[in-house]
Amino acid sequence: MSVSTDPSSGPAIRVEGLTKTYRSGGGELVVFAGLNLEVERGEKLALIGESGAGKSTLLHLLGGLDRPTEGAIYFGQNDICKLPANQLADFRNRELGFVWQIHSLLAEFTAVENVMMPLLIRGQSREQAEPVSMARLEEVGLRSRASHRAGELSGGEQQRVVLARALVGNPSVLLADEPTGNLDHKTGEMIMGLLDDLHRSRQLTSIHVTHNTSFARRAGRVVALEQGKLVTATLPPASLLSRELVEDSSAEGRHHV
Ligand SMILES: Nc1ncnc2c1ncn2[C@@H]1O[C@H](COP(=O)(O)OP(=O)(O)OP(=O)(O)O)[C@@H](O)[C@H]1O
Ligand SMILES: [Mg+2]
Repeated sequence: MSVSTDPSSGPAIRVEGLTKTYRSGGGELVVFAGLNLEVERGEKLALIGESGAGKSTLLHLLGGLDRPTEGAIYFGQNDICKLPANQLADFRNRELGFVWQIHSLLAEFTAVENVMMPLLIRGQSREQAEPVSMARLEEVGLRSRASHRAGELSGGEQQRVVLARALVGNPSVLLADEPTGNLDHKTGEMIMGLLDDLHRSRQLTSIHVTHNTSFARRAGRVVALEQGKLVTATLPPASLLSRELVEDSSAEGRHHV
């Protein structure tokens, strides 16, 4: 069976009754239980919540990097939780782009070699993969650094390589876990601007985990993980608030989804 996000109708992603429980130290930790969520095609969703709330856990499940304890995750008509490992890996490679915090590059490989990886995994030759990878590096403004080793690049440059790698296989969905977490504010702004541009120009469905309220505000919708539940977070316009209030998430109204 080949899996694709059917472009014809319905939400891009539909989460139903998602529960994740970890067993550790003889005990059981319920990170969240019975989560429901729909993400429309082309939507940009920000996911916020306190440290330990389960944001990365949810993103890993959405990305097929881990399996839920219970529940279903539909991409189009297909529940990825039911896929055998090889089909899930193929689905990830073709449909999903991942942007985690920096340090996810192979430091000894060049920028363009890092970008090529998803295509090589797909079975393309280096000759096929290289021109496409160079084009993606160009898109993020890093063509001139293509032959630098990843370990020689600045944090912001590394994150741009991660973006190019995430998009090299033309995914339909982009999952980003604190993509600006290790960067200074100005570089973080630049990466968020690039993510916004790529989201639009490539007509992606995007989910961004962020601790930064001003970055969350750039999304079309903000949801928060709170005590194992997903709630819609309403962020007031930045122009109405002082900087301190904007950065204080306790000042924001919330209601259950
Ligand atoms: N493999 C694991 N085994 C046991 N517990 C885990 C495991 N992975 C995560 N946890 C626990 O699950 C909870 C949620 O973790 P998660 O990494 O999803 O939080 P988060 O919201 O991403 O936090 P942060 O903002 O700090 O990145 C935490 O309490 C964490 O300790
Ligand atoms: Mg996390």
